[in-house]
Amino acid sequence: MTKIIDGKLIAQNLRDDLKKEISQLKEKHNKVPGLAVVQVGNVAASSVYVKAKTKSALEVGISIIDHHLEDKTTQEELISLIHKLNNQENVNGILVQLPLPNHMNEQTILDSIDPSKDADGFHPLNVGKLSISSKNDDNLLIPCTPYGCLIMLKGLNIDLKGKHAIVIGRSNIVGKPMAQLLLKESCTVTIAHSKTVNLPELCNEADILVAAVGRPEIVRGNWIKNGAIIIDVGINRIQKEINGEIKNKLVGDVSFSECEKKASAITPVPGGVGPMTISCLLRNTTIAFKNSIK
Ligand code: GUN
Repeated sequence: MTKIIDGKLIAQNLRDDLKKEISQLKEKHNKVPGLAVVQVGNVAASSVYVKAKTKSALEVGISIIDHHLEDKTTQEELISLIHKLNNQENVNGILVQLPLPNHMNEQTILDSIDPSKDADGFHPLNVGKLSISSKNDDNLLIPCTPYGCLIMLKGLNIDLKGKHAIVIGRSNIVGKPMAQLLLKESCTVTIAHSKTVNLPELCNEADILVAAVGRPEIVRGNWIKNGAIIIDVGINRIQKEINGEIKNKLVGDVSFSECEKKASAITPVPGGVGPMTISCLLRNTTIAFKNSIK
């Protein structure tokens, strides 16, 4: 029987644990973790994510320092806000929601965040730490989506050692850090991407397949081998005809109906990887807080 991995439930459990931990930290230190959430402009998807992140943070007892800036904000103004937050005592984590307006250089902005407050784990120092660290990651700030995927994989209680893991996608946010995390679990890791030749045949070799390319349902049932574990990071809004009507639908990078029949475990969209990302952001903020009081 194929296991449908319930990301919603795993993410809720993670938040429940964080809530308890934060309450204990508050008792001991008389303060709680603070997360600064910075949004520039009004990209609709960003507003949805920022709202969801804020709501979840408040629920677990993290305080929110909210900064919503106008689209025409200059890069210098944004950097100056980040420098202020870097020095603000009640801020332990800083999240700058991406994408930023075209007149800004995202990497320059991410580089200006104090690495010890880097709630997304995107700063080059944290990227480097992830790539050179050994097994013990308890105080590392790790990109949230791939870390969420790893938690789901570990929850399957299978031995990851030596498994062939194929990651489709080479983004800094998901693909590259995902590959690093799987390598640390002693998987044999292949990173595939849009220019990879014979992608379907390659995917057929995967014991674990992580799809993070942003192309709706590109991974078909005949791409995967029997018993593979499928983690679908894609969130694509498409229009689909359902019972003669055109409806908006959220689908992943994987054809769920086709792959579900062959996989041993698979994440659905929605309700799979998505909810894990936010819980891992709250985890990073709590780690940054604990690191600050050590
Ligand atoms: N935009 C899409 N995903 C993310 C994320 O994980 N963090 C931030 N800051 N922006 C994003």
